[in-house]
Amino acid sequence: MTETKKQKLSKPKKTLVLNAFTNGTLYSQIPGIWRHPNDKTSTHTELSYWTQLAKTAERGKLNSIFIADTLTYFDVYKGPNNPGPSLEVGINAPKLDPSIPISAMASVTESIGFGITFSTVSEHPYLLARRLATLDHLTQGRLGWNIVASYLPSVGRQLLNGGELLAHEDRYAQTQEYLEIVYKLLLSSWREDALIKDKSRGVYVDSSRVRNIEHDGKFFKLNGASITSIIPQGFPVIIQAGTSKQGKEFAAKNAEIIFVGSGNNLSQSGESIKEIRQLAQNYGRDPYSIKFLVSAAPILGKTHQEAIDKWEDYSSYANPEGSQIMFSSQSGINLDKYEWDEPFGQEVGKNNASIGLTKNTLNSTTKTTSRRKIFENSKEYTKLLVGTGEEVANIIEEWVELYDIDGFNFSQSVFPESLEDIVEILIPELQKRGLFWYDYPVPNGTFRENLYQQKDHSFLPKDHPGYQYRWTKDESREDFENKLKDEGIL
Ligand SMILES: Cc1cc2nc3c(=O)[nH]c(=O)nc-3n(C[C@H](O)[C@H](O)[C@H](O)COP(=O)(O)O)c2cc1C
Repeated sequence: MTETKKQKLSKPKKTLVLNAFTNGTLYSQIPGIWRHPNDKTSTHTELSYWTQLAKTAERGKLNSIFIADTLTYFDVYKGPNNPGPSLEVGINAPKLDPSIPISAMASVTESIGFGITFSTVSEHPYLLARRLATLDHLTQGRLGWNIVASYLPSVGRQLLNGGELLAHEDRYAQTQEYLEIVYKLLLSSWREDALIKDKSRGVYVDSSRVRNIEHDGKFFKLNGASITSIIPQGFPVIIQAGTSKQGKEFAAKNAEIIFVGSGNNLSQSGESIKEIRQLAQNYGRDPYSIKFLVSAAPILGKTHQEAIDKWEDYSSYANPEGSQIMFSSQSGINLDKYEWDEPFGQEVGKNNASIGLTKNTLNSTTKTTSRRKIFENSKEYTKLLVGTGEEVANIIEEWVELYDIDGFNFSQSVFPESLEDIVEILIPELQKRGLFWYDYPVPNGTFRENLYQQKDHSFLPKDHPGYQYRWTKDESREDFENKLKDEGIL
């Protein structure tokens, strides 16, 4: 046996982190699929859509349902400020506030987590801290927060008093400050044993164990105590997905789960993983405590031919405008100005949009890229994982080995069919290979306990910057405040 083969065999396999990816809209990897007879994404306005999603994903023992959110319209294409194309194709609109169905999903499940996107421009950090606390309480510790800074110009116009988003670099500075306020509210305002419920004295909360947070920063000011009690996980699992230079720094410092790209830009994703693990190490964190996920959209069949037939059927519903609408908003470039084969690469990176998402779609910012290439990329993406459970698992296993990937966000093409296929065809094959668990390691546990496969691991790990904000039951107020002063937090 060769040395590399021996090394490969002796390396323990990773237990993958697997999510079902969705959005508060008629979400599919294939824009226009809502016309397919089996597709039920247009029922996302009914609670049963969400409870079915949750039950199916938990049947497959997935780590979490991840819910993306971008708040406002994709309206750069044929714009600016034109919601028409997005509404007609049914892409990213109409849309719901996706945090609301989480309670309903939690009520029909026991162990699956819920990763939800909240932007740091959507509301004051005090309100978001209360919202996160509410959701972590009601799910009994199954919440994750995907921290985004927003990139759509429509967010500026519609949410920021008609103004503009901060410049890209400042968005991350604002986001770091926002996160620190939420750390303070959820971890430093209440001592972890403040809620005493002492019936004999008639005292519900020991108020000497609750302190005001005084924050006077560049972007926010706040003075007062958190209104919510300590939550089951202390702090939700932290998720992040920006892969610009600033995005990588922010993620390396704070995130526990990081989304780096997708199946059609794997070598770029592999480079990001390597770079962010190194950055995390520079911040004193265990680089392998961070789980890196890439997006993938498997289309599965019981036979190879069945999978191919499904792909051909699904892709015949793809509306080519969809990829143009999406990319225009992510890149900030109105593709409608260009002919189908006209290069537009010279415009890439010259505005305030998402750097990471633009790079992910283009794979490289070549000057020769065109609208046709954008459409072809989106089609190629749906073709990457088409096959039987065995065939798709072979590819996944190879990607994991080659690029040091820890898991996947599985998007669906047709709902609920694609998710059912993942659960019934792909998951059993991954289980058979030792790449996925047969059951949650901590049934009824928290999101973080299952993420790290360890009971009583509900709080952030010791080497995480959020750890030092926690007011533990052994610390007097004075000792705690002195500690915060020493650490430069107070
Ligand atoms: C899998 C994945 C999911 C994402 N989900 C969201 C989302 O829900 N909302 C959002 O505003 N941005 C989302 N993004 C975009 C990034 O979080 C980030 O905000 C954006 O790329 C801008 O940051 P950057 O310029 O540092 O890349 C997602 C990116 C990826 C790869």
